[in-house]
Amino acid sequence: MSEANLQTPVKPIKIIAAACNNNGIGLKGHLPWDLPKEFKYLLASITTVKQPGKKNLIVWGRQSFESFDEKLLPLENTIIVLLSRALREVPKFAHYICRNEEEVVTLVSAPPLSDEIETIWVLGGVECYINMIRHPWCNHIYFTKIMADFECDIFFPDFDKDVFKLKEEYPGVPSGIQEEKGVKYIFQVYEKDQQKQSQ
Ligand SMILES: NC(=O)c1ccc[n+]([C@@H]2O[C@H](COP(=O)([O-])OP(=O)(O)OC[C@H]3O[C@@H](n4cnc5c(N)ncnc54)[C@H](OP(=O)(O)O)[C@@H]3O)[C@@H](O)[C@H]2O)c1
Repeated sequence: MSEANLQTPVKPIKIIAAACNNNGIGLKGHLPWDLPKEFKYLLASITTVKQPGKKNLIVWGRQSFESFDEKLLPLENTIIVLLSRALREVPKFAHYICRNEEEVVTLVSAPPLSDEIETIWVLGGVECYINMIRHPWCNHIYFTKIMADFECDIFFPDFDKDVFKLKEEYPGVPSGIQEEKGVKYIFQVYEKDQQKQSQ
């Protein structure tokens, strides 16, 4: 973390993911399940801003962005940053390309985004989950625990449950077991214990 970044106002970084019994999150480049209400919860979370006029920054690995239904874009109240080492041009509906997570933090630390952005939502894939969970600005992991088995080839990374503590209830997050198409799931929120920090 550079000195410049430590001096800038902190933007909360929130991770959001849905994972099934074996922590699987994807299969062959797509979601392994079709759970429209769960998906609506994701969309509502990332497009909600508390302060009028503000926006959220969405951080996406290139493949996760490409597998997102283009018909749902653009997303209201959002600015999209793609992580890519290969892309040379910003694709339709995205706003910026960053080469790594530190570039994202640098981007949001300077005008115009330092004034405009309220929250940074990290939507995966795995590499940016791993790197952003470790970032000092990361304070929450929104984790839909899908209580079912699905074939997956990609998995949510382990994280330190001593640092991120599961909250029984969280404001604005539906509590209790949800059910859709015979699949049960729970919307969970892990909150960082501010006394601790992942290594
Ligand atoms: N269940 C969920 O909540 C959830 C959420 C997100 C994704 N998914 C699933 O996960 C799978 C996609 O995730 P993935 O991990 O395989 O791919 P990904 O991270 O979405 O995309 C991989 C590509 O993104 C770029 N990239 C990723 N991290 C980077 C970094 N730190 N710095 C620079 N560039 C970076 C690279 O692009 P270039 O090749 O262009 O350099 C890399 O090849 C899909 O199956 C998707 O459906 C599930």
